[in-house]
Parts: sequence; C-alpha cells; structure tokens
Amino acid sequence: MIGVFDSGVGGLGILAEIRRLLPAADLIYLADHAVAPYGPRDLAEVRERSETVAGWLIERGCSIVTIACNTASAAALKSLRARFPRTHFVGMEPAVKPATEITAAGRVGVVATAATFQGELFATVVDRFASGVTVFTAACPSWVTLVEAGITSGPEARAEVEACIGPLRDEGIDVLVLACTHYPRLMDVISEVVGEAVAIVDPAPAVARQTARLAASVAAAGAGRGRMEFCSTGDAGTLESALRSLGLHGPVSLLPW
Ligand code: DGL
Repeated sequence: MIGVFDSGVGGLGILAEIRRLLPAADLIYLADHAVAPYGPRDLAEVRERSETVAGWLIERGCSIVTIACNTASAAALKSLRARFPRTHFVGMEPAVKPATEITAAGRVGVVATAATFQGELFATVVDRFASGVTVFTAACPSWVTLVEAGITSGPEARAEVEACIGPLRDEGIDVLVLACTHYPRLMDVISEVVGEAVAIVDPAPAVARQTARLAASVAAAGAGRGRMEFCSTGDAGTLESALRSLGLHGPVSLLPW
C-alpha cells in the first residue's frame, strides 16, 4: 500500500497522477486539516506533525509514503527516513534545477510557503544549481486558503495571484517554479497573470513518476485491488469537495485525531 499526505487537498494532484500510473495499487491519502496550513508554522512543529502522520500511514500498512507537500518535505524528509528506516519515502524539493536549465533570461521565480523558504533544502538547491541565475521568491499563503475553499478561478483568485506574482513577473522572470502542491490548482490563473513567455514548472508529475518507479521495486507496494481511501484529521467536507472536483472516488473518513 502507498500512503500520500499533505496538510490539506494540495497533494491530491499527485495522488491522481499516482493512480493513473499505478492503477492496481492500493492508495491511502491523509489530509492533515487539523493543523493546516503548514506554511506559516515553525519547521520543528511541521517535522513533529509529519512524523505523527507518517507513523499513522505506516501503521496502516504503507511501505511507501509520498510526502505530497513541499513544506513537510523541507521540514521532515531527513528525520522521517532516520526514524522509519524500513519505509521508503518520496519527498519533494523546489524544482530549481530544471528551472535553471530552461531559463534564457537567467531570472527564475519560485513560489512556495514561508516555511519551505526557511528550510535548509531550499538554500541547498539554490546553492547547488542556481549559480549565474537570479532567483526571486514569493510566499503566497492566501493561495492555500483559496484552494482549500475550492476557489481556483474568478476575480478573487485573479487578484490574489496578481498580488503575489505580479512583482516577480515585473522582475522579468522567464521561468516560474511552483514549490507548493496547492499552487498548481490555480494554474490557469497563474498562466494568465505571468503570460505566455513565462514557463511554469510543476514538479508534481515527476514526484508521482518517482513513486511509481519505487513501487516497481518494493514488494507488494504497487500490487493491490486499486482501492483508494481518503482521510482528513479535521475537515472531511473540504476533502470530499476537492475529490469531486478532481473526479477521484473512494471512502472518506474523519480521523478522531
Ligand atoms: N501543500 C503544501 C506544500 O506543498 C503546504 C500548504 C500549507 O499547508 O501551507 O508546501
């Protein structure tokens, strides 16, 4: 069984892609609504929470856990691997490397949560891959609120997206990295705001492919009955609406957390 978690509904995009690649795998998704959003929290707090959530998925029988959240990956990927050495983790890192490979202007924008920018992981990828490239950053907490509320288009979404990435666009970026799994749900509005000349990098499909590759080598992880189960630690209604809008089906439960 493969477990996937995020603070809320953002990671469902990755889960949908895993389902497409591994139709027979049994999947369980956990949205940690009880303490969402993770982005404004302290990294130590997100780490502790991620360990609790991953521990729950492992107890349920997951041999692979995909951290469908940049913030939790920044806070906890290392500690999760150390604490649960028999479990295989797939984490996320801001896709600065592919962005630096395609920028012609040498100007790249990265949008992520405040916590992701604080983490060592972000500083490391910028150090390793962005020499000679100017990286502009913006945290967009209101986008997470919009996506959780199911608002992914219209004037409110447009205004929030403009407020957050208008300044990056005006700096002349030609690549924009979406380093939070909630953000791709606003893709149409983001593309409109930055314009056609800016390439948008969403690492979610690559994370799903990495999960599928791993499942091919971990006994029984990809083989099952194609079941999907969805759990929220705090808001099953929000999870149900997001599932409907993505065309995903499966039992939804509210965990007594
Ligand atoms: N979806 C999450 C991420 O990728 C976090 C959003 C939040 O809870 O602030 O970072």
